[in-house]
Amino acid sequence: MREVAVIGIGMTKFGELWTKSLRDIFVEAAMAAIDDAKVDQIGSMYVGSMTPGLFVGQEHIGALMADYLGTPSIPAMRVESACCSGGMAFRAGFFEVASGHTDVVLVGGVEKMNDGADVTYALATAADQEYEVYQGVTFPGLYALIARAHMHAYGTTREQMAAVSVKNHHNGSLNERAQFPREVTVEQVLNATLVADPLTMLECSPVSDGAACAILAPLAIAKKLSMPVIKVIGTGAATDTLALHAREDLTTLKAVKLSAQSAYKMAGVKPTDVSLAEVHDCFSIAEICIVEELGFVEKGKGGPFTEQGHTALDGKIPVNTSGGLKSKGHPVGATGIAQVCEIVEQLRGAAGKRQVKDPKIGIAQNMGGSGASSVVHVFKKE
Ligand code: COA
Repeated sequence: MREVAVIGIGMTKFGELWTKSLRDIFVEAAMAAIDDAKVDQIGSMYVGSMTPGLFVGQEHIGALMADYLGTPSIPAMRVESACCSGGMAFRAGFFEVASGHTDVVLVGGVEKMNDGADVTYALATAADQEYEVYQGVTFPGLYALIARAHMHAYGTTREQMAAVSVKNHHNGSLNERAQFPREVTVEQVLNATLVADPLTMLECSPVSDGAACAILAPLAIAKKLSMPVIKVIGTGAATDTLALHAREDLTTLKAVKLSAQSAYKMAGVKPTDVSLAEVHDCFSIAEICIVEELGFVEKGKGGPFTEQGHTALDGKIPVNTSGGLKSKGHPVGATGIAQVCEIVEQLRGAAGKRQVKDPKIGIAQNMGGSGASSVVHVFKKE
């Protein structure tokens, strides 16, 4: 396999983008990534999107986006894996470049959730219809079950979960592309409207519109460009049961653990080598479980680890420097690529007020549903 690098990144602001359509925001992000990479040819394209059919009534978006981008004949397809559609699109593009088949591949993600669809219904199609959704469970409800199980098994407190939101809103307040770029306090998080006991609104990722894109190329091309070279040194993906009740332990996100192990192995790195991580904090408890599965802290200790500041911008292992899904926003199909944009900016040393000190290795972890699919990528500054 050839070595692969990210040579361009671009994304829209995340939020309620009323005046722009699905194709508008995808093309805006794609053009930003193309400008950043300074390439004039795209060989093929993968577009991550969870359910544009339900959100805006549009399917077949691979060809649509290729046409609207002005590259009408290239191979282009949509990739779907619920909220980790973007991360899986990245993985597909990575293998196409690594295989030697294509030199320049655009990988993107897009979702428009605010245009009037029944968002809770659309999102719930990623859960198990027969065993979960027919019984009335929503995604906040599923993660609330995980939160209660974690509290019961490990003594995790509501304050520790709130600390995830406080940190991510702080980071997001430094990110001009964030949907909710404002600070919140532990008290505000705990006293916000209860969505699914024990999770309040300030522990839930929001309903968002947005798009993000990246350009992949072999290392030989990346080295000819003037930008710092950011290599993709590992990819790992895994799956788990869709239904929570079928898992041995509600607090274990097995797909996250397996995808991380696979990506670390390919990259030849250990969790202690990682300088920063973007992870899938769709709900506060998710980030606590994920930092455990990624091996940053032992199982059950994610709550105190977060509360003690170890995942803060200046902590041992900064997590979600972008603001994460909580503050930056979560246009589901776009999230996995937006995570890549943040890691690349950080490794380039171009993250402005959010910049962590001299990062060498960053990882992006993107997850679908209540953890039934997960993909992890490891990036290294050359
Ligand atoms: N965080 C912070 N503020 C939020 C917010 C969030 N997640 N969601 C909405 N708000 C703000 C809005 O901006 C609005 O503020 P304003 O009154 O100043 O304009 C206010 O709260 C009410 O917004 P509204 O859109 O009426 O909220 P809602 O009750 O319809 O939706 C949630 C709130 C939490 C239910 C919704 O964001 C949600 O379903 N989140 C989960 C999404 C999800 O499951 N994603 C998939 C993950 S697997």
